[in-house]
Amino acid sequence: MKNLRIFSFLLVFCFSGVTLFSQMKKDPSRFFDPAKLTEVGTYYYPEHWDESQWKRDFIKMKELGFEFVHFAEFAWAMLEPSEGVYDFAWLDKAVDLASEQGLKVIMCTSTATPPVWLVRKHPDVLIRHENGTKMDHGARQHPSFSNIFYREYAMKMIEKLAQHYGKDKRIMGWQLDNEPRPHFDFGEDAHNRFREWLKRKYSSIDALNTAWGTRFWSQIYSDFSEINIPRLSQMFMNSHQILDYQRFATEETISFLNEQTRTIRKHTIPEQWITTNLIPEYSDGHLRYIDQLDFHSYTRYMVFGERFGMGEKGYRLGHVERIAKANDFFRTVDGVYGVMELQPGQVNWGRINPQPYPGAVRLWLWHVFAGGSKFTCTYRFRQPIYGTELYHYGIVGPDGVTTSNGGLEFVRFINEIKTLRKAYNPSVSNPKEYENRRTAILYNHENTWEMERNRQTTEWNTERHVDKYYNALKSFGAPVDFIDERNDFSVYNVMLAPAYQMIDDALVARWRDYVEKGGNLVLTARTGHKNRMGQLFETQFAEKIFSLIGAKLDFYDLLLPHHPDNVKFEGKNYSWTSWGEVFVPERNTETWAAYEGDFYAGRPAVIHRKLGKGSVTYVGVDSKDGNLEKEVLKKLYKKLNISLLDLPEGLHIEYRDGFGIAVNYGEKAYVLPISDKSEFIVGGKSIPKAGVSVWNEKK
Ligand code: GAL
Repeated sequence: MKNLRIFSFLLVFCFSGVTLFSQMKKDPSRFFDPAKLTEVGTYYYPEHWDESQWKRDFIKMKELGFEFVHFAEFAWAMLEPSEGVYDFAWLDKAVDLASEQGLKVIMCTSTATPPVWLVRKHPDVLIRHENGTKMDHGARQHPSFSNIFYREYAMKMIEKLAQHYGKDKRIMGWQLDNEPRPHFDFGEDAHNRFREWLKRKYSSIDALNTAWGTRFWSQIYSDFSEINIPRLSQMFMNSHQILDYQRFATEETISFLNEQTRTIRKHTIPEQWITTNLIPEYSDGHLRYIDQLDFHSYTRYMVFGERFGMGEKGYRLGHVERIAKANDFFRTVDGVYGVMELQPGQVNWGRINPQPYPGAVRLWLWHVFAGGSKFTCTYRFRQPIYGTELYHYGIVGPDGVTTSNGGLEFVRFINEIKTLRKAYNPSVSNPKEYENRRTAILYNHENTWEMERNRQTTEWNTERHVDKYYNALKSFGAPVDFIDERNDFSVYNVMLAPAYQMIDDALVARWRDYVEKGGNLVLTARTGHKNRMGQLFETQFAEKIFSLIGAKLDFYDLLLPHHPDNVKFEGKNYSWTSWGEVFVPERNTETWAAYEGDFYAGRPAVIHRKLGKGSVTYVGVDSKDGNLEKEVLKKLYKKLNISLLDLPEGLHIEYRDGFGIAVNYGEKAYVLPISDKSEFIVGGKSIPKAGVSVWNEKK
């Protein structure tokens, strides 16, 4: 019976997936009025407060300038208090009262918090850990995306919600679940679905044995039914099997969200959009492609006591790259993105939860805007007085009426946006020099999974490696688009593919084609070592890219932390420990940097060659502080006649809708390197710490 259910479930899923996937996604910018530039909203949980206070709270939101409100994110138990019995009356009242104040509504699917009746009736909905224990009711995010009952009940509830609100013009859009990400679940349904997934992927068990290299240590399978989800904590567990399991767990999340989208879309008017709120964890990268969403949104917390940011107290502002990179990562997926959660003050969940620096909240709001966001929503309006998040700040404090300092910064931003709307001129576009610097970073989270599992040295960190290039580009004032292999490479003059470990012939051919037609490709250490299953090629190490980079890789070396070595580039030394590749270049390949120390002193670490109308640069070493990477890129852009800025760390400049926007996460004030003809709308040419400047460039 259960197998039959699984089968029919898969059939429905595959069929509807195929039909919808073939429909072209319509441009999601249609949902947003360009003249508004951006809109600001706030989370509100009517179910947490006495009904008599709702109206007062919506009036306050309106007075503060918020334009929309976010409802029902964790409300399943109130919406379906017992099985099949739905209650929307309370939510209807909240929608009525909010819209009386002119507030639009984001409606949520509350799938992160199933009601207790469901959990007790079907305990298998709970995620099972690797050690056999299960999660329980009493928190959130405890159900398994693979559990058949959970998915059935979730879709029934979502369908009712969509029938109820799908034709309501006051609802601007939908948010699915909350911060969904792959769950590592060891339940029975997850096992069954993993085996089914493998059967679809591999034509036979022999094909799977080959892909997983199971002859190694006698791991050979004779039937799919023998396969279990890999024990992630077991030492030396088959890494090819883990790679497939990570892919499966990610696809489970995507399929769950796609199923929600299809369920909602049966009942909605075209004006309502559908998104979800993702945590920018770059190893969950292909959650960027939850293909049936209208666009992707992200959540970002900047201050939670970690030593991010510049200087001793940089933790009060957070690191500039955390918002910048999230903007550049999500914007490129659909051309449109929103930010669903931005903290209005202290949070409760860090190990230490300090106050943000005065002005920090406004700085983040402007930074999100600078990346192109269509809206920003804050978590949350009222500070809660019960539950897990008691110490979490809101726009107003626990009394429900006193605006917090962060709340006042939201108000300031909202008012500044109103001024900007008046200055908006749709015919003005971003400056040419800015657009000329636009650079792509080709990124695939699967490389990150693979390298983090097989680091080979404690000195290696994949995300930090990518950041060295990213931060260099931002210091040049370059707009950056994180793209993946679904994108067209040819629109970028320069494309970086840092540590692109897993490749195939088709990708190498695309890279070559891109370069021959005029593109400038930058590849970096660890690129091209493995196939898509994480196995080495039966060739010389990394041979697949030799003819592209114009060199042979002789060997790679990894140093101990206590004794870094140097690489010399244009007369200056740069130290490294984590990864260094030593090349034998072809005759026409230039050596840009060479190793200084040890038995391979004088041999190439950074090489460059022309190919067709373009060029390939290979940076085979990962420097300690990223300065080598920055200087190498500078040299390349100079060769290409692309003019660069030289911004100090923490100062970013972006353009959107014709406006220049600068944000300063640095420790001191700076003078902006922009034309004197610029007309400032916010701030000025000197930008203080935590300051923002916004200008129009007068022609
Ligand atoms: C987020 C989460 C929110 C809320 C918030 C508190 O990660 O999505 O629901 O818990 O943290 O800062």
